[in-house]
Amino acid sequence: MGRFIIEGSSIPVSGEVKIGGAKNAVLPIMAACVMCGSAVLHSCPPLLDTRAAADILGCLGVKCRFENKSAFIEYPGGGSFEISRELCGKMRSSVLFLAPAAARYGRAEIYLPGGCCLGKRPVDMHLKALETLGAKISCENDRICLEAENGFEGGDIYFDTSSVGATETAITAAVTARGRTRIHNPAREPEIADLCAFLNKAGADIEMGEVIEIQGRGGLLGHAEHTVMPDRIEAGTYLILAAATGGELFLKNAVGGHISPLCEILRGMGCIVEERSKALYIDAPRRFEVPPEIVSAPYPAFPTDLQPQMTALLAKGSGLCMVRETVFEGRYRHIPQLNKMGADIAVIDNTDFAVNGRGKNYHAAEVTASDLRCGAALVIAAAAAKGESTIHNAEYVLRGYEDICKKMSLIGVKMRYRA
Ligand code: EPU
Repeated sequence: MGRFIIEGSSIPVSGEVKIGGAKNAVLPIMAACVMCGSAVLHSCPPLLDTRAAADILGCLGVKCRFENKSAFIEYPGGGSFEISRELCGKMRSSVLFLAPAAARYGRAEIYLPGGCCLGKRPVDMHLKALETLGAKISCENDRICLEAENGFEGGDIYFDTSSVGATETAITAAVTARGRTRIHNPAREPEIADLCAFLNKAGADIEMGEVIEIQGRGGLLGHAEHTVMPDRIEAGTYLILAAATGGELFLKNAVGGHISPLCEILRGMGCIVEERSKALYIDAPRRFEVPPEIVSAPYPAFPTDLQPQMTALLAKGSGLCMVRETVFEGRYRHIPQLNKMGADIAVIDNTDFAVNGRGKNYHAAEVTASDLRCGAALVIAAAAAKGESTIHNAEYVLRGYEDICKKMSLIGVKMRYRA
């Protein structure tokens, strides 16, 4: 694995960042392309994860070509219903290809997905939803085989808890099913609305409300051209970076409404955060008080994917903040690394942390990213610190942040990647 070298100068970041297309929107959309004749996706971010998704498409016989942040995807005929163990191990989103592959080929075989290590991440809700729509599923060790020879059948799917991925699996299976599907208690993340917008352009009939209602086509989809929504987690990460350095940034192509809880918290810390003609503006003070509590939870609450970055910010403020992670049981691995850089954060149990802000800055250090957002938190701490920091396992960050070294250098942070 490679590393980032960041020369922190504790100078406020300033300038403009153009936010790219959302990783967590484009991955389910690329998976859904297996059911389409062809598709053109604009604002498709050049990331390790989108390259991995293109490899999975190739494995299933679907062509994918990238050109200037657009992806041209086409099913030329033929192809295979199986995704290799190696490709499935590259990312969690490989499971999102299960339903589209089965819709096209009548069956699909995949392996348990890899992805960021955030505790147990089972796929039971995906499989249960597919069984409700008529799939026959058998699991042997890490292999999952799905048969739906005559396609999926509409039905009522009830989710006990919120799952973004399982909701996406249910939607993609339902659009090609015969009959009507109702998804009760679906996840409501904006990335799910973006998937539905894409599918509707390709000929699906999806209505999003309290319950998601889908009139199945009883067959595959046609062509769609779609611009992927802006990445709200990338935008949130740069907002937090600005707050951590007392900086001032314009984030072009960012939607404040997608990260309202973060904007509110930052305003409470004394930042000016405003939406200005398709951009988000932030002007942050050098010193700030922390709020007493921050709780991550499914949309529209504070997103788990910003919890590590926010924890990194809180440690620089003044006061005690309790952070509670309610989505993943194992999203705490950034904490010992932030402590190595001078933070004072106690892990009470794996989901509750006490951040003891003493108004002190980070110091440079050699640290290791254990997953994508942990890496982002370390980048923020290193940019705020004075001196040269090394962040190992840089590839985790490259999975989800488009052109990060270039974007950082444009706002005043010297950051290099070494393979
Ligand atoms: N869960 C189950 N069974 C399932 C599915 C999920 O128990 O079958 C549990 C998970 O273990 C977790 C909770 O439900 O505790 C929520 O997981 P969810 O299914 O919502 O997450 P996901 O679809 O695997 C997506 C994002 C994640 C993001 C979460 C929550 C993509 C590609 N990934 O994951 O993004 O954290 O939703 O918002 O969309 C990231 O970008 O860093 C990242 C991890």
